Amino acid sequence: MKLLTLIFLAVAVLASPYPGVRTSIGISSLNQLLQAKLPIVISDIISKGIPDTTFNEKFLMIPMTLKLKNLTIEVFSIDVKNSELEVNNQTGQLYLTLRNFNLFLTGIYTYYIPLPIAGFFNVSMTDATVILPVSLSTTVEGEILANIAPLEGNLTSLIIDIEAKNTFSSVWILLSHLWPLSTYMNKIVVDTIDSISKRLNPPLAKFFDSIRYTDVLGSLPIAGDYHFYSMNLNPLSIDSNLNGTFFLINALGEESNVVPPSIIPNMIGVAPIRVQFTEYYFDSLMWAMYSSGSLSFYIKSENMPKNIPYTFTTTGLSKVVPNLAKVYGANLPVDLQCAVYKVPNIDIQVTVSASLDVNCNFIVRVGPNAKITAFTIITQIITQFSASINNQNGGIYMIASLDNTNTEFSEFSLLNSNIGVFSLTKLAGAFNYYMYALVLKANTMLETTGIRLPLPEGIQVQKAAFNIYQGAAEIDFQPVFG
Ligand SMILES: *[C@@H]1O[C@H](CO)[C@@H](O)[C@H](O)[C@H]1NC(C)=O
Ligand SMILES: *[C@@H]1O[C@H](CO)[C@@H](O)[C@H](O)[C@H]1NC(C)=O
Ligand SMILES: *[C@@H]1O[C@H](CO)[C@@H](O)[C@H](O)[C@H]1NC(C)=O
Ligand SMILES: *[C@@H]1O[C@H](CO)[C@@H](O)[C@H](O)[C@H]1NC(C)=O
Ligand SMILES: *[C@@H]1O[C@H](CO)[C@@H](O)[C@H](O)[C@H]1NC(C)=O
Repeated sequence: MKLLTLIFLAVAVLASPYPGVRTSIGISSLNQLLQAKLPIVISDIISKGIPDTTFNEKFLMIPMTLKLKNLTIEVFSIDVKNSELEVNNQTGQLYLTLRNFNLFLTGIYTYYIPLPIAGFFNVSMTDATVILPVSLSTTVEGEILANIAPLEGNLTSLIIDIEAKNTFSSVWILLSHLWPLSTYMNKIVVDTIDSISKRLNPPLAKFFDSIRYTDVLGSLPIAGDYHFYSMNLNPLSIDSNLNGTFFLINALGEESNVVPPSIIPNMIGVAPIRVQFTEYYFDSLMWAMYSSGSLSFYIKSENMPKNIPYTFTTTGLSKVVPNLAKVYGANLPVDLQCAVYKVPNIDIQVTVSASLDVNCNFIVRVGPNAKITAFTIITQIITQFSASINNQNGGIYMIASLDNTNTEFSEFSLLNSNIGVFSLTKLAGAFNYYMYALVLKANTMLETTGIRLPLPEGIQVQKAAFNIYQGAAEIDFQPVFG
């Protein structure tokens, strides 16, 4: 019994991998998009018109041809404001409902039996409600597939008026109660309605295809995997679980050792679009940044901030590192090379904080092309991230930065000194100033390395807000479709 339960649990875990990112898209946002696109589709259909159509039939065993020509769309209107996508909460099926659908077509029919019998006809449909099923799903590969299906069934509410041109055709109309004109008109109208889905499908597909399922992070050799694990259609929103794992572009086989937590925090926002990044996502990001060597910085002496108490030269630093000028000579530039030496740890509570273990080499430029590492110190940086949201390159980006006012350095120790042992107390005081340069350098890198949200293109952000709670950071906003 226990074993069975365990096996079942193991299978359940395998079947639903831990989502690094979750998204929730309000149906209301999709309707905003639909209502922006529908008028374009309607005027497109009106301007394209309906081509002449020929049908072949047998009538009383006689081969017969029916031609419908000069088909003119006199009226084609939909109440766009009240047309919407709706999820049926019984079946979970998504439907496109077009309300107050009015159609008025005129045309000329000609029967060849083989003598031509011609006349005018009108087709009208008034205040109809047209419902088209929409399929929205994820493929095995984890991409979104969206399709508005053709109209199911036929239209019984069609009113077809026929006007004979002469006596002969009046007789024909009387004779042929069974004639197939209404069936064919029905087909033409169904085709016209289906042309709405035919024309809505390409922009819909383009919309979802614009999601970047893998996205390279700025100019770093790492990328995030945003393939969809699952998608749930609810009455008010479409909720998805995405992979949200980073990988190394130059070492595809290398897998992160980041262990996902066992709980998934609930989203707390109420905005129409919500994107949740879990701690696992950030841990995976840190692993990838560390493993790709992206967390190391080299700051040349001349690029150090100018308004700091000690200049970055052997003489300037000799107040805190006494032997420096004695060993290498006076006034030589000292560069700082710092690298994070193990995967940084991220903690999300009411803020997103990180602790980074760093080693820094103090490098003396003893000659034009000669450098010597005088000594190495290791320290720990505790810092907090702040972030902003931007529209750029057609997408929405989260730009993170290290909050300089909430950055602290501690636990200094000296490693590999070529200039003997000296007290770090003074250096630690001075070092905070230099670390400021390091944070600025890191922020320059972060600013050009925005995280693109795994959402379709063409969405403008309005009223963005961050919600940060144990285990996740959530971005909430209202979309505007441009
Ligand atoms: C039908 O269309 C043709 C070509 O577009 C045009 O020449 C003809 O006048 C039209 N007939 C009627 C009755 O509108
Ligand atoms: C379906 O959704 C509507 C509107 O959201 C709600 O009023 C109704 O109670 C729901 N029905 C079921 C069976 O959940
Ligand atoms: C079709 O509608 C037009 C008005 O747009 C009307 O003049 C004509 O008589 C109608 N034809 C038939 C066959 O009902
Ligand atoms: C519409 O469908 C019904 C049954 O599905 C069928 O009996 C009827 O003939 C169809 N009408 C037309 C005009 O095609
Ligand atoms: C999630 O993405 C990573 C990186 O691309 C990949 O190695 C892993 O197999 C993906 N997980 C699933 C369950 O597809």
